[in-house]
Amino acid sequence: MFEVMSASFEGDFKRTDKESQISDVQRTHGIKMMKGINNIVINLDNAGQLRDNIRLLASDHIDKGITAHDIKMGLEILQGLIHESLGEMYDVMTAEAWRQCSNIICTILDAEMVSSSSA
Ligand code: HEM
Repeated sequence: MFEVMSASFEGDFKRTDKESQISDVQRTHGIKMMKGINNIVINLDNAGQLRDNIRLLASDHIDKGITAHDIKMGLEILQGLIHESLGEMYDVMTAEAWRQCSNIICTILDAEMVSSSSA
């Protein structure tokens, strides 16, 4: 999964090569994002580790002004890119798996970001 996701991000970022500085930042963040999501997916059946990973995701972003809503949007864009690169292989089951995975991430993230910002 990691390879497919990274490849689709690489492809997307190449379209912004005119702004090479922005593109480099995006590409580097794309890789960080893929690694972060990969760690979350690996731990979907390990509640303690999953929560730690999502807490880290929250703390990596909250002081940069990134909200849980921004990350939700980022995950939706990512699903669109994966759909584009997988074509027909992105079937109903894959779409549903992504939808549920995003919901889990965003539900925990919402709670973490609200409690961190009010702490
Ligand atoms: C599930 C989705 C995402 C994951 C797993 C992820 C992961 C990461 C990681 C690991 C870092 C490095 C943190 C550090 O070392 O300090 C980072 C930084 C950052 N993220 Fe994300 N991110 C995600 C979504 C987003 C979204 C949607 C945005 C913007 C709308 C965003 C904006 C940033 C910015 C501005 C930084 C600091 C610059 C950088 O390190 O590239 N992230 N992210």
